[in-house]
Amino acid sequence: MTWYPVADLADFEGRPVLAREAGGQALALYRVDGAVHATQGRCTHAGALLAEGEVVEGYIECPAHYGLFEIPTGRAQGGPVCRDLAVYPVRVEEGRVWVEVV
Ligand code: FES
Repeated sequence: MTWYPVADLADFEGRPVLAREAGGQALALYRVDGAVHATQGRCTHAGALLAEGEVVEGYIECPAHYGLFEIPTGRAQGGPVCRDLAVYPVRVEEGRVWVEVV
């Protein structure tokens, strides 16, 4: 496991979800209620980029077929999504966001 610097908190200005890459993996970063979370970047249904979706009350809505995932846990909320998202540890130090990826 390796920690990667992937964003600054300022990058979330006006946008609660960001697309990033670390260790060769696509990630989606979220800022929800002041906390930062990281999940895999592509939807488990058909691979849409989650960073192009909408954050709604702690959930990410996939832009392709509107599947919903709970952001902190990655848990799929039912059809059309049935497989959970991978989630990654996050830490914030002096405004910089780090994610731990295998
Ligand atoms: Fe995300 Fe279909 S690709 S719900």
